[in-house]
Amino acid sequence: MSYETQIWIAGSNGRIGSELIKILNPEDYEILATDIDEVDITDSKIVNLYVDMHRPEIIINCAGITDLDYCEENLEEAFRVNAIGAKNLAIAATRINAKIIQLSTDDVFSGEGNKPYREYDELGARTVYGKSKVLAEEYIREFSQNYFILRSSWLYGGGNKYVENIISQAKENGVVKVANKQIGSPTSSKELAKFILSIIDSYNYGTYHVACIGQCSRKEFAQEILDILSIKAEVEEIEGLSGYSNRPEYSALDNFLLRISNMYIFPDWKTALKEYIKEVEK
Ligand SMILES: NC(=O)c1ccc[n+]([C@@H]2O[C@H](COP(=O)([O-])OP(=O)(O)OC[C@H]3O[C@@H](n4cnc5c(N)ncnc54)[C@H](OP(=O)(O)O)[C@@H]3O)[C@@H](O)[C@H]2O)c1
Repeated sequence: MSYETQIWIAGSNGRIGSELIKILNPEDYEILATDIDEVDITDSKIVNLYVDMHRPEIIINCAGITDLDYCEENLEEAFRVNAIGAKNLAIAATRINAKIIQLSTDDVFSGEGNKPYREYDELGARTVYGKSKVLAEEYIREFSQNYFILRSSWLYGGGNKYVENIISQAKENGVVKVANKQIGSPTSSKELAKFILSIIDSYNYGTYHVACIGQCSRKEFAQEILDILSIKAEVEEIEGLSGYSNRPEYSALDNFLLRISNMYIFPDWKTALKEYIKEVEK
């Protein structure tokens, strides 16, 4: 791709946005990075003005309200940013014939399953956050053509300090407290950013599950972090520790469509975690 290819990252200060900026080579792409102070995605006029001025070829929607408890308490704001914001970007992308990449989540599922969710499984969000992301997906499909909807799960890194918090709890207290019941597919933000880079030039549009391979409980995840660093500490499971209690209990993802289309293979979650910890410890 030529130097002039412009990528607009909306919500560029967030975990995924900032990880993407690190990984995109400025010699290959011209990166337009905005967050709420520059372009509020809920404002359709400003969004359209922005795309008319810059004409990006690719729009990556990393903006959102991602705090589940905050979404429960601020339903209208959650829907305005997560759903209407996505709709505004989808319409703007269509107007200028740009590709759009929408970040979505495992929270679109009910969490009542017991095997990794595939793209064709029935949706059933139970949280306000999950429901707003379901509507966002619908808007992207309705108002844009050249789209990728990427559902990921349990992201760490890129500003999310979950792994670092486990390490400091273990070192300081000799005990790590984690939420019980939850099972997911921990995914490194860097691995997600690498995948996004791999699809930027492609036309394999659609909805994909994009998570590191495998699944674990919060306890197994914490134990793996401690094992990698040879830290001796106890891992204790606590009821209702991770905030809003109605979040999905089972949310592991199967990258089914990536696999059958031979598009991309994510590393397994343990390998990606080891890699991440090696970098953090440097
Ligand atoms: N983190 C995960 O585990 C995870 C998993 C799967 C999918 N996702 C999805 O991936 C996307 C990015 O996630 P993330 O973890 O990087 O989120 P994040 O760290 O919370 O970042 C979101 C960014 O969007 C900004 N923002 C909020 N309202 C905005 C608005 N009206 N206009 C423009 N920007 C606005 C936020 O600014 P402020 O901080 O100032 O509010 C923040 O910088 C989200 O759509 C999320 O649903 C995340």
